[in-house]
Amino acid sequence: MARRRVPQAVFDYLDGGAEGEVTLRENCRAFEDVTFRPRHAVSLSDCDLRCRVLGLDLSLPFLLAPVGYSRLMHPGGEVAAAREAGKAGTGYILSTISGHPLEDVKAGSSGPVFYQLYLMGGRAAAEAAIERARAAGFAGLVVTIDTPVSGIRERDKRNGMKELLSGNVLEKLRYLPQVLARPGWLVGFLLDGGLRPLPNVILPGTGPMTLVDVNAALASSAVTWADLRWIRDGWRGPIVVKGILTGDDGRRAVDEGAAAISVSNHGGRQLDCVPAALRALPEVVAAVNGQVEVLMDGGIRRGTDIVKAICLGARAVLCGRAYAYGLAAAGEAGIERAIEILRADLDRTLRLLGCPSISALDRSYVTVPKRWEWC
Ligand SMILES: Cc1cc2nc3c(=O)[nH]c(=O)nc-3n(C[C@H](O)[C@H](O)[C@H](O)COP(=O)(O)O)c2cc1C
Repeated sequence: MARRRVPQAVFDYLDGGAEGEVTLRENCRAFEDVTFRPRHAVSLSDCDLRCRVLGLDLSLPFLLAPVGYSRLMHPGGEVAAAREAGKAGTGYILSTISGHPLEDVKAGSSGPVFYQLYLMGGRAAAEAAIERARAAGFAGLVVTIDTPVSGIRERDKRNGMKELLSGNVLEKLRYLPQVLARPGWLVGFLLDGGLRPLPNVILPGTGPMTLVDVNAALASSAVTWADLRWIRDGWRGPIVVKGILTGDDGRRAVDEGAAAISVSNHGGRQLDCVPAALRALPEVVAAVNGQVEVLMDGGIRRGTDIVKAICLGARAVLCGRAYAYGLAAAGEAGIERAIEILRADLDRTLRLLGCPSISALDRSYVTVPKRWEWC
């Protein structure tokens, strides 16, 4: 449905990955390697889907991941996603690359909202955003460490994403037919005010950063462990480090004061040919040895995927495309539907597995192939 409602450039931005999309495919495929060991003939009336993440009681074992430019998919964008997460009793993570002011996103949600931080625009811009996030009551920061430059997404190149975002009408021309082919989306986009600068990246003396400048800004603002220390010193709440793929980096994040980490390859959008996030999970879980909560994201499309990740040691997962397809397809109602599908999947899967609750899941409910190391 998303493919039919939004222009090709917007759909491919959401759906696509880096380079040959090997990791993008592998993120989903890896779940097929893990099989269940159900316990039959047990009677379960109600399965308990609750889960505790960073001291927060969530109704579901998944949060909505940061998805930059969500407002391009539908005008409701980040506000709609935060509101639906809150309604479902779970958390939302707002990307730095948001079309809505962080205060509006927080105010729209009845649940916990985290702010995902890039250092685009330098420390001064980040400091201002952190201060605003604190004042608005954000539950924590999520620092993404796998984006020292933006990965190359070849579909975006082919579709002229950069040209479409730029202010140059001549450059845009040859890419406009795909936009005109989706009049419903186009009307909504224009009524929403068209392309807006980023309200949460305010450059001192210049104002909000424009979308077309994002890639260059990312390339000059890699987050380092030293930056993480600086962020930790200025933010007294919990910090989640997102983008861990090895046990070494997991331990380093613990040493640098992370409260939680997310095992992630950015949904296959950054370095291609890194392992599937699920595949990296057991190594990281073993390395951090219970010192921090371990989340994971990448390739979650069904409730069975969430259950498998939890069996392999994740406290909870982050879903990206699974809800963003819903947003692109049908706005806020689409996110509500996506969450409902996952919730129903989870309930059914626990019943079929013979497991009463998310908190009772462990390795004994799955088998992993012998070729998987660290398991
Ligand atoms: C369109 C899109 C934009 C994204 N933007 C960001 C971002 O701004 N910051 C970030 O940390 N991760 C970003 N991500 C990565 C997600 O947070 C998450 O790691 C990824 O989507 C998980 O994979 P999945 O889509 O297979 O669930 C983005 C993902 C997508 C699909």
